[in-house]
Amino acid sequence: MGGELKLVAGNSNPALAEEISACLGVPLCDAEVGRFPDGEINVHIKETVRGADVFVIQSTSPPVNEHLMELLLIIDALRRASASRITAVIPYYGYSRQDRKHIGRVPISAKLVANFIETAGANRVLTLDLPAGQLQGFFDIPVDNLRIDPIFADYFSQEGLAQDSVIVAPDVGAARRASGVAERLGLPYAIVEKARVSDKTGQVEARHVIGEVKGRRAIMVDDIISTGGTILAATDLLQECGAREVYAAFSHGIFAADAVQRIEQSSLRGVIVTNTIPPPVSPKLIHISVGKLFADIIERIHEDQSVSKLFPHY
Ligand code: R5P
Repeated sequence: MGGELKLVAGNSNPALAEEISACLGVPLCDAEVGRFPDGEINVHIKETVRGADVFVIQSTSPPVNEHLMELLLIIDALRRASASRITAVIPYYGYSRQDRKHIGRVPISAKLVANFIETAGANRVLTLDLPAGQLQGFFDIPVDNLRIDPIFADYFSQEGLAQDSVIVAPDVGAARRASGVAERLGLPYAIVEKARVSDKTGQVEARHVIGEVKGRRAIMVDDIISTGGTILAATDLLQECGAREVYAAFSHGIFAADAVQRIEQSSLRGVIVTNTIPPPVSPKLIHISVGKLFADIIERIHEDQSVSKLFPHY
């Protein structure tokens, strides 16, 4: 790609944006993303982006609507300022779980948000661990959806968590992620069958464990922790089934409502979470950064190099 590489950040995750910028040795563009007195979003890109290859770093994390609208307006400003290519770097893609009509008369929010992003003027999307790979098809522009399995597998291995462990999917939807991590580490994996009792409160029931966890360290891997209902229910069941200790690892930590307190009061030994959303601080939370990964991928996209070559084991 010919144009100069430029980075613009919204307000969702300044620390991650700074880290990506430091890894690339490219400063963040001078840009104002503020509010008018009535609460409307005020975007002003204060340096030229004409002909540039611009990467907009913005997770659409809570407050989701504010961060989404910032992203759309930044993209619009860049398009009108003649950026030659705009990549929406969305480490956490909000509304992604609403990807189908599971009952009548509900929206497919993930598709509508994809339409917004494309209509605003994004030419590409770079994200991490979408709940379902098919979401890429909601866009008619290229989407790089980075996988989390190598990141978690490397971390568990480095921290000595890979011995005598079983990797657990806390619901059927997480099975591919869990088997990916397990395969890389040569470990067995198990699946918890979960039923969501209430979408509104997040109340869930963990019903069965498929696979053997007795005497092992169980490490659950999932895309998102929101209320914590899924993993807390699964933790109890895994212990009833004889797991020696229980950990959990997440790509995206929303930590809605009192999730952090509930984790602190639970028997979970540790919760590993990336910084796609600024993670809360708590004695049980272990943060791992995806800043270097995003920086490497941005560099590759900018230089029109293969992204998959960074993950030679796939
Ligand atoms: C959906 O099934 C996701 O993979 C997560 O399991 C879910 O979003 C977690 O939500 P919560 O923490 O509220 O149970």
